[in-house]
Amino acid sequence: MNILKLSNLFVLGLLYSYGSSAGHLYCGKNRDVPTTSPSASIPTTSPSASIPPTSPPASIPPTSPAPIPSTSPAPIPPTSPAPIPPSSPAPLPQPTNNCGDFYTEFSSNEDLGNFNVEYCPQNVRVNNGLEMMVSQSCGITISYKKKFTRGKIETFMKMAPNSGVVSAFILTGNEPSDEIDIEWVGKDVFTFQSMYFVKGQRIVYDPGFHPSPNQSTANLSENFHKYGIEVTDTFVKWYIDDILVRTLEKTSDATFPSETNTIKFGVWDGSSVGIWAGYVDWSVPVLPAYMKWIRITNYC
Ligand SMILES: *[C@@H]1O[C@H](CO)[C@@H](O)[C@H](O)[C@H]1NC(C)=O
Ligand SMILES: *[C@@H]1O[C@H](CO)[C@@H](O)[C@H](O)[C@H]1NC(C)=O
Repeated sequence: MNILKLSNLFVLGLLYSYGSSAGHLYCGKNRDVPTTSPSASIPTTSPSASIPPTSPPASIPPTSPAPIPSTSPAPIPPTSPAPIPPSSPAPLPQPTNNCGDFYTEFSSNEDLGNFNVEYCPQNVRVNNGLEMMVSQSCGITISYKKKFTRGKIETFMKMAPNSGVVSAFILTGNEPSDEIDIEWVGKDVFTFQSMYFVKGQRIVYDPGFHPSPNQSTANLSENFHKYGIEVTDTFVKWYIDDILVRTLEKTSDATFPSETNTIKFGVWDGSSVGIWAGYVDWSVPVLPAYMKWIRITNYC
C-alpha cells in the first residue's frame, strides 16, 4: 500500500504516541480524537497493528530531491512547443475577487483569539511571533476558527529545525479528507514540501520539494519566509516569497482536492513515521517553529 495519506501518518503517530502513553501529535485528522480525554482513543490493539503493510517512509523519498547530475547539462526541452490538447476546454475565469481578509500578527496572546489551540496549549506561546514547540509528550495543533473555501492563505514562518520534527501549514476537510499541505521536515532545513490528497489518497505520490528562492536565506529555520497556498475551483498554487513554485490544475473531480475548509498549523513529532521525517534526539535542545503572521484572503 503505497498510497498513504499524510494525515494517516499523523494518525499513526497518534497511535504510537498514545500507545506509549505520551500525548499526541499534530495531525490533520486528529480532531477526530475526542478532546475530552485522549485516552479514550487509545487503540486496544497494539500501535504496530495499525501500520500499513508497507511502511510509509519506505515510499517517501529521502529528504532532498535527487541531485541533478553535475556532469550532464540540463536537458534542453524539445524545440516544438507542447501541443495543446484539442479536447481541453477553455479555462474558466478565476474567482479571485477579494471578499474580505483576515490578518493577524502574533504579538500578544489575544492574537490567538481567532484560533483554537487543539491539544497541548503549553507548547505554544507568543514570543517574537507564535512559538510552536514539540515536546516528548506532545506537539501543537492550532486551527483557524472560521471556515475557508476559496482564496489564499499566507504565513510568514520559520520551520523547526530538529530531525524528526515536522512543521505544518495545511488545509483539510471532512473525512475522508481532502488535504493541501505545506510541510517542513526538520532534517532538511533547505526545502519545504508541497503535497495534496483527495479523499485520503495521494494522487501524486511524491511531495514537491521547494528551496528558498534566495541563496542567502536558504536555511528555512534560520530565516522567515512567506509561504502561500492559493485555492480556487480549478487550481491550487503553492508559493514561497510570492514566487509560484507549484501549480495543480484541476483535470477531474476525482483527482482534485476541493473539500478543504479548515486551516491548521503546528508542529509534531514525526519520529513514528520513520525516515521521511527522521527521528527526534531528545538529548539535544529541540527548537521551535515561529509564525510571525498569517493572512487569509477569501475569494468570491
Ligand atoms: C537575499 O537575502 C539577503 C539577506 O536577507 C538580502 O540582502 C538580499 O537582498 C536578498 N536578495 C534578493 C534577490 O532578494
Ligand atoms: C539552520 O538554522 C537552525 C536555526 O538557526 C540551526 O539550528 C541549524 O543548525 C541550521 N542548519 C544548518 C544546516 O545550517
